[in-house]
Amino acid sequence: MSARVLYVIVCGAPPARDVGLLVRRAQDDGWDVCVLTTPSGRKFVDVADLKQLTGHPVRSDYKNPGEPDVLPSPDAIVLAPATVNTINKWGAGICDTLGLGVLVEAIGKRLPIVAVPFTNQAHAAHPAFPENIAKLRSWGVTVLSGPDVYPLHEPGTGSQYLDLFPWALAAEAIDTQALKAESHES
Ligand SMILES: Cc1cc2nc3c(=O)[nH]c(=O)nc-3n(C[C@H](O)[C@H](O)[C@H](O)COP(=O)(O)O)c2cc1C
Repeated sequence: MSARVLYVIVCGAPPARDVGLLVRRAQDDGWDVCVLTTPSGRKFVDVADLKQLTGHPVRSDYKNPGEPDVLPSPDAIVLAPATVNTINKWGAGICDTLGLGVLVEAIGKRLPIVAVPFTNQAHAAHPAFPENIAKLRSWGVTVLSGPDVYPLHEPGTGSQYLDLFPWALAAEAIDTQALKAESHES
């Protein structure tokens, strides 16, 4: 039996540089991991390293019409780090990046999804952000955010707190959600 496929979708925020921690952990848990980034997220990661680690190309843009898919279809998705921008666009159903296209479709497919936002207190205080997190949760997405998960930092200080980003929690959460989904299917 082939391994279940996990898409890790990475946005443009500093914890992205450590996404390999999640990839390795998920691989240890039996996932075939594919990394996708938003166009902004691509600037924050080491694409060559991630390609070598996963054995898959790191995709950031839609393919051209008529081209074949280069990645297997996802069974589950982790969005981490999730920017305010991508959370708000996802809540509105916007698909103007490949990552958002996959995420919007995944709600319709009812795939297990875990999202882990990373932002500062001021960015997070815009009313659209908590509204969209609430919407995403109501649609079945597990959003790991709040003071118990990651206390929001002051603007301009995020790089000091990268070690607090909850990669292990994200890996545990997607394993739990995927198991739940499997037990509903059988
Ligand atoms: C150095 C740097 C750090 C950033 N940190 C964050 C962050 O922690 N959280 C966030 O939501 N946006 C952050 N941004 C802004 C996003 O990169 C920007 O909103 C971008 O449009 C996000 O695109 P995406 O959602 O498609 O990845 C940062 C940008 C830069 C250049």
